[in-house]
Amino acid sequence: MSHETSGTGWGNAVTVSIEDGVAWVTMNRPDKRNAINPAIVREMTAVFDALEADDAAEVIVITGAGDAFSAGQDLKEYFRETESWPPHERDKLFAQNAAWQWRRTMFYRKPTIAAVNGWCFGGAFQILIGCDLAIASDDATFGLSEINWGIIPAGIVTKSVSMVMSQRDAMYYIMTGETFDGKQAAEMKLVNKSVPADQLRAEASKLAQTLRAKNPNVLRACKTAYHHVRQMGWEQSLDYLMAKSDQTTFRDKSRGAEKGMSQFIDEKKYRPGLGAYDKDAG
Ligand code: COA
Repeated sequence: MSHETSGTGWGNAVTVSIEDGVAWVTMNRPDKRNAINPAIVREMTAVFDALEADDAAEVIVITGAGDAFSAGQDLKEYFRETESWPPHERDKLFAQNAAWQWRRTMFYRKPTIAAVNGWCFGGAFQILIGCDLAIASDDATFGLSEINWGIIPAGIVTKSVSMVMSQRDAMYYIMTGETFDGKQAAEMKLVNKSVPADQLRAEASKLAQTLRAKNPNVLRACKTAYHHVRQMGWEQSLDYLMAKSDQTTFRDKSRGAEKGMSQFIDEKKYRPGLGAYDKDAG
């Protein structure tokens, strides 16, 4: 099944197309290299709200139109032009931006994948790192360019890169502003994988379908738990994870763990070590 979808609250700055359970969310200002302006912030917020409630969208893939993933925050429309806004309006925009770019992608109820198709600078790292998984095209170009125009990687960029890049890589690219390509991003584990440009969509689709076959309630708990325990000590982590596990099983109306166990032990239908149980079986 495939359809374009549009909803209240978004226009042309973001497009959404749902195909086989995967929502392709595309930042759509190719002429401006998908630089994130207030329109993208507003529309992404509306898109995330809509997709959360749309059962046809089981996995979200974020990508960019044209030759850019995103050139980061729009220097003109997001930074310069908002300087004259009333402070509370500017604060609201910045908070809304943080909400969709990293807090929401990270803790979204559905899995999120970044498909980095081209230029990826500055603020775009927040989206990239906020997403659960990321695939890049070999020829994508990444850069923490803030130093090149005289600011620090703010928003939450520095925190984000410190969570996924090694100290040497993070400091090198923060301080030099040099670019690197998709293959290097994969070597640094900033993305899971890098593939030739013409395979990016297929590769992201394949990954999305893998996630789609898993229990969505458990996937949701896995990502939340991962982010929280990274900030906790061992004892707190143990207690939290045991409680989270009980909560997940308790709240899972599909009784997935029971099914999974039974399909293995009683029915001998699959091997959990080698793949997922059939969540759609009765
Ligand atoms: N903010 C505002 N406008 C941007 C932008 C950004 N982050 N990135 C690109 N644009 C605009 C350009 O101003 C230009 O607009 P114009 O056609 O009205 O003149 C248009 O997008 C195309 O950009 P251009 O530089 O001509 O494209 P390019 O393909 O030669 O280079 C980049 C692409 C991404 C390397 C280059 O645009 C760039 O360096 N952008 C800034 C990246 C950055 O530092 N981002 C960090 C922000 S925190």
